[in-house]
Amino acid sequence: MSDRTLINNLSAATLSVWGGEENSLVQGATQVPVVYSAAYDYPDIETWLDVALDRKPGHIYSRNTNPTVQAFETKIRLLEGAQAATSFASGMAAISNTLFSLLSPGDRIVSVKDSYGGTNKLFLEFLPRFNIRVDLCDTTDHEQIEAAVAAGCKVVYLESPTNPTLKVVDIARIAGAGHRAGAVVVADNTFATPINQNPLALGADLVLHSATKFLGGHGDALGGVVCGDPEWVKRIYHYREITGAALDPMAAFLLIRGMKTLHLRIKQQNESALSIARWLQGHESVASVFYPGLETHPQHDIARRQMRGYGGVLSFMLNGGFGAVKRVLPKLRLARRAANLGSVETIAGPPATTSHVECSAEERQAMGIPEGLIRYSVGIEDTEELIADLSQALKFA
Ligand SMILES: Cc1ncc(COP(=O)(O)O)c(C=O)c1O
Repeated sequence: MSDRTLINNLSAATLSVWGGEENSLVQGATQVPVVYSAAYDYPDIETWLDVALDRKPGHIYSRNTNPTVQAFETKIRLLEGAQAATSFASGMAAISNTLFSLLSPGDRIVSVKDSYGGTNKLFLEFLPRFNIRVDLCDTTDHEQIEAAVAAGCKVVYLESPTNPTLKVVDIARIAGAGHRAGAVVVADNTFATPINQNPLALGADLVLHSATKFLGGHGDALGGVVCGDPEWVKRIYHYREITGAALDPMAAFLLIRGMKTLHLRIKQQNESALSIARWLQGHESVASVFYPGLETHPQHDIARRQMRGYGGVLSFMLNGGFGAVKRVLPKLRLARRAANLGSVETIAGPPATTSHVECSAEERQAMGIPEGLIRYSVGIEDTEELIADLSQALKFA
């Protein structure tokens, strides 16, 4: 099955299962093998040179490319409708390698205040050290973002929906502004996944993921990936070859295996999260619920336009603040209290120990992240049983 056939004819459901695997199977194996080889043998120097100089396909050294890792890259590339992809040891490796390969001292990047905590650290602590100017706009003020982009920038960096307050950015609108300013538009699609949203189809140049989350889906492997325009991906790949932030073949295998059920998991998680968000909205201990699928969500119309489903993560604020969070979380029986999301198990936690653990309380406040928030990543358990669990735990609020 060639890539071309896959792109033209197959749905995301079929691509999740079949995409990217065909060229990696050996000796009749039905599953992609884990290739643990640091380097590759070339008795013929001419062929070795051809592969090394990218004139022929093949592998030289696993910090650069590896057959298992390549199968993972192809699967996600096809799901995102991209021409190229390169992977990383984690989502943060994908984000930092992307930004450091696209930006140079004196450049300016425009992004939003509500990015994931690690990304925000890059913006506030690391990029400025290299004299890269960072302009973080109010995530929901599209006029402000457009004006900041029009003032001139090298990169526009978006995340939608955002972690942990589930704000939604109009990707097509901001990508248009980015292109008018001659910028590269990058979108973090971790929360939506390619099942719910394809930023490249909305105009972004690059889409990236923490594969640790929904792509892998089982909380057992770290990984990251960036997909999109071959010219940009090549530049990022070259930087990653040298920084050495390569994805491990075993992690790639686990991510491939997880992705085979991506479409099923996301379908269930979309449905379950919407039901739970609606239920939480009516609960007396809950001050507000953040979920783009709710008609009351301030950017619901944008979400409806650019997403096919609203994802498996929601967050909610308790009337009793952080004290109530501390009382309720230990009572949940069907949730891991952990700094992760996107897994088959439900996972819950406050921003102070999850998405924004790297930030101080003051920084979280400046970003508008309430301390009394619970981020709730819905697993694939029975929806009614999750609601019953929340119901008994919220009695302690
Ligand atoms: C939206 C988003 N992007 C990136 C990351 C970073 O990914 P990783 O933890 O795999 O480095 C996270 C992690 O939570 C995330 O939620």
